[in-house]
Amino acid sequence: MLTVEILTLFPEMFPGMLSASILGLARQRGLLDVRLHNLRDWSADRHHKVDDRPYGGGPGMLLRPEPVFRAVEWLVEHGFSGRRLLLTPGGRTFDQGLARELAAAPRFLMLCGHYEGFDDRIRTGLPWEEVSIGDYVLSGGEPAALAILDAVTRLVPGALGDPESPVEESFTAGRLEYPQFTRPREFRGMAVPEVLLGGNHAEIARWREEQSRLRTERRRSQP
Ligand SMILES: C[S@@+](CC[C@H](N)C(=O)[O-])C[C@H]1O[C@@H](n2cnc3c(N)ncnc32)[C@H](O)[C@@H]1O
Repeated sequence: MLTVEILTLFPEMFPGMLSASILGLARQRGLLDVRLHNLRDWSADRHHKVDDRPYGGGPGMLLRPEPVFRAVEWLVEHGFSGRRLLLTPGGRTFDQGLARELAAAPRFLMLCGHYEGFDDRIRTGLPWEEVSIGDYVLSGGEPAALAILDAVTRLVPGALGDPESPVEESFTAGRLEYPQFTRPREFRGMAVPEVLLGGNHAEIARWREEQSRLRTERRRSQP
């Protein structure tokens, strides 16, 4: 069982994705436990305020340090130990290698920022791995947390019904996946490659290997 702790200001953004498809099934099968923690519950302010204006001026509001420190300290007091991901566009880019490492761990934590970001003492005053899902800016860490959760969960043994599926996927062997086809054999003048229809498994494997290599070279090699 993989347990994922998520610190967020918007827990209501999660239930749809957590209930459907692979994430929903993994939770039903007892392979995944996602615990959503609303940072407002740790606000020291009596109006549950968690953000404030940046010192020195500038647009927007920042997440204040105390709700995050108090939430993390509460989790540790209640037995949390594991990797802690601070979701930020400035972090290391999330990839399949990190997904594999997280899927092999029993537990990890993600902090979703929001607004203009967070007070930098959150970043420096607690131990984190800073992680980004790409070089673009989201309104909050929640979509990033869900993307990471999805990529990690499909690698938890038993989460995909078919044990073979993650083995042949893109990035598993450092390559992109080969093209795939299903019925009909011909659609609007586009035919399924003949080799896939013949039933010669060795030939199919060779064709797929070659297609995977070509696709990776064309799309991922440096100019
Ligand atoms: C509007 S963004 C803040 C952007 C910040 N002002 C900056 O320029 O780097 C609010 C929050 O969304 C999350 N976020 C935005 N883009 C992200 C990305 N590419 N990867 C991971 N988290 C991201 C982070 O948690 C961030 O604190």
